[in-house]
Amino acid sequence: LQKLEIKDLNLQPGTKIEIEGVIPPAPRHFVINCAQDHDTIGFHFNPRFNRFRDKNIIVCNFKKDDGWGNEQKDTNFPFKPGTQTKVCIDFEKTAFHVTLPNGCEIQFPNHLNLDTINLLEVKADFELRSLAFK
Ligand code: GAL
Repeated sequence: LQKLEIKDLNLQPGTKIEIEGVIPPAPRHFVINCAQDHDTIGFHFNPRFNRFRDKNIIVCNFKKDDGWGNEQKDTNFPFKPGTQTKVCIDFEKTAFHVTLPNGCEIQFPNHLNLDTINLLEVKADFELRSLAFK
């Protein structure tokens, strides 16, 4: 289980975050958090292969001091154990636009109106290979 954290990023709307990595065999889930700090997460991206009762579902959510918002679940699940993968997150003022490895897009509203991403987290069953801000 990896946990990568980058702080003091100061990413502005219009920035694209490209994340490439390898999904290990028998994964449970992985997480990409675009946040202000650990308690203020504008975008929690959580593909679940097998976590809680969820099988092959992408869960998106946001979090404030007082807890999680309502989950957005997507059954379009183009992730395979034991393969290399790539996720691109376009951070915009109104929404996070995710391009999945099959070219499909997921949109998640910027509920917290984050105007800066200061903390990026990539964790659990995902071995990071490359990270780029464009
Ligand atoms: C919770 C889980 C968190 C996060 C959240 C998203 O059940 O413990 O890690 O994934 O769901 O709604």
